[in-house]
Amino acid sequence: MNNVIELLKAHRSIRKFKTDPVPQEVVEELILAGQCAATSSFIQACTVLQITDPATREHLCEAAAGQLYVKESPVFLVFCADMQRHQMACDMHDAVMLSGFTEQFLTASIDCALFAQNVLIAAESLGLGGCYIGALRNKIGEVDTLLGLPDKVYPVFGMCLGYPAQDPEIKPRLPLGVVLKQQRYSNDGDYQLIVDYDEQVRRYYRSRTGGTKDNSWSEQISDMLVKEARPHMLSFLQSKGFVLK
Ligand SMILES: Cc1cc2nc3c(=O)[nH]c(=O)nc-3n(C[C@H](O)[C@H](O)[C@H](O)COP(=O)(O)O)c2cc1C
Repeated sequence: MNNVIELLKAHRSIRKFKTDPVPQEVVEELILAGQCAATSSFIQACTVLQITDPATREHLCEAAAGQLYVKESPVFLVFCADMQRHQMACDMHDAVMLSGFTEQFLTASIDCALFAQNVLIAAESLGLGGCYIGALRNKIGEVDTLLGLPDKVYPVFGMCLGYPAQDPEIKPRLPLGVVLKQQRYSNDGDYQLIVDYDEQVRRYYRSRTGGTKDNSWSEQISDMLVKEARPHMLSFLQSKGFVLK
């Protein structure tokens, strides 16, 4: 269609990297591209921590279930939802900031996701690859302390970046009919589409793993959703001044 769409459709997470460093000017250019994402009510609520200290990387790797790329990728970023500077802005005008609203948590978190996706796409456009690291939230309290995050700031996810040392296949997505609906919600027909898609995902895993993994999408999701999803998140977020009302 065009180069941008081709780039988006060529995305796949990269988890093995060459040791070649990524020049700091490139990292900064990526962050500038991230900042250009749309931002809810212009709040600009994302702060990015670039982590180069090996001891900190080791801790983060351990917090993220030992995923080695967290310590081995040439660049590691932590995207934080940050409402601190908004407190500062209100203080500048002697305004009493009302905080703790779930809406603010959502907008700050969405801001981070949009910012980060711009960073990843910009990186891919320069021949880099990357992978989000949501597993930082496994031990979010430890990560929060390690990074010295104040009240009203929380780590949403990390991101590994670097020059790819692997060339994984593109992971097939759900059929268009499952994700695009006209006018009103309906899931008529989705069941069969998902059954067909399951086969496609099975083939993808078989090919990617030389036959050792052949999960379907619905199997993978049903395995995941019978387990609790980081139940510590609510009390953690509340301790940071989010989702209080
Ligand atoms: C917010 C977020 C968190 C993620 N966390 C991890 C993670 O901790 N470890 C990992 O290996 N992949 C992680 N991923 C990558 C997903 O597993 C991956 O995007 C998905 O399986 C689709 O594969 P693809 O990116 O190769 O198309 C994460 C992705 C997102 C968007």
